Amino acid sequence: MNRIAFEELAALTSVAARHDENAVSRAHGEGALLSLRDVHLSYGDTPVLKGIDLSVRRGQAVSIIGPSGSGKSTILRCINGLIAPQAGEIYVDGIDVRAQKTDAQRIALRKRIGFVFQQFNLFPHLSVLDNLTIAPMRVLGRSRAQAESDAHALLAKVRLADKAKAYPGALSGGQQQRVAIARTLAMRPDLILFDEVTSALDPETVGEVLNVIGELADEGQTCVLVTHEMRFAEEISDEVFFTEGGVIVERGTAQQLFHYPAHERTRFFLQRARGEDRAGRALRRA
Ligand SMILES: Nc1ncnc2c1ncn2[C@@H]1O[C@H](COP(=O)(O)OP(=O)(O)O)[C@@H](O)[C@H]1O
Ligand SMILES: [Mg+2]
Repeated sequence: MNRIAFEELAALTSVAARHDENAVSRAHGEGALLSLRDVHLSYGDTPVLKGIDLSVRRGQAVSIIGPSGSGKSTILRCINGLIAPQAGEIYVDGIDVRAQKTDAQRIALRKRIGFVFQQFNLFPHLSVLDNLTIAPMRVLGRSRAQAESDAHALLAKVRLADKAKAYPGALSGGQQQRVAIARTLAMRPDLILFDEVTSALDPETVGEVLNVIGELADEGQTCVLVTHEMRFAEEISDEVFFTEGGVIVERGTAQQLFHYPAHERTRFFLQRARGEDRAGRALRRA
């Protein structure tokens, strides 16, 4: 058995053993796929997350908005176990993220959590099709035929059916990001984390990427989005969290948070964000 296959097997066994239903219901609000309780994280002496509480039910789309440096990316990295907070609880579908200490356990966790970044991180030396099939074949043990058939279906879904043979370097930013989303979907994750996935794109390709994410949310894909696209966040989010300085200042439905913010800091942030939105659109028209 090769090393990866062995690690996967070990990981799956340990996840099955760990699945304690009582712990799940203790740790979660009813029906939550993801929950964070009082999560604290510091880099050295600098506190970055100061008690984050957040939960997401299966099928929900949730957005995190807030100024740069407020801890949004750090929250996402804690959720998929890329970094470990010093205190608090994080559960994903009953899995205690902080207890996943071995490489095998972490691999098992990350199979269930997709992460789409601002930089697409596609393999430049692989075709679009191979970018989509490599992980399902190596990590999930899919046959090539199965992986390729899935990949073609996903490329059609992100409206890139004709790009299977292309290499990432030949695609626009928006197309590459849609490939990155399809690649994430190929792992059939329970939860997808999107970290400012349109921030590095040319303005004219932002819409095509947001459309794809919007469709996923409509179909009931559970997702957490960090985004500067306020109108998009308002449209697709079941719940919105506003962070500043490592705390969640305010949370609510999109309607509440965007139209009736309770906190002065939220109002101030939204005013500025809308100003930038208008300036950006004016620039794009010019
Ligand atoms: N690896 C790191 N080492 C030290 N400080 C970090 C590190 N990563 C992030 N930070 C700091 O943590 C804070 C929150 O960062 P981040 O989560 O990236 O914010 P956001 O995504 O909201 O812009 C920032 O002040 C940032 O400088
Ligand atoms: Mg960030």
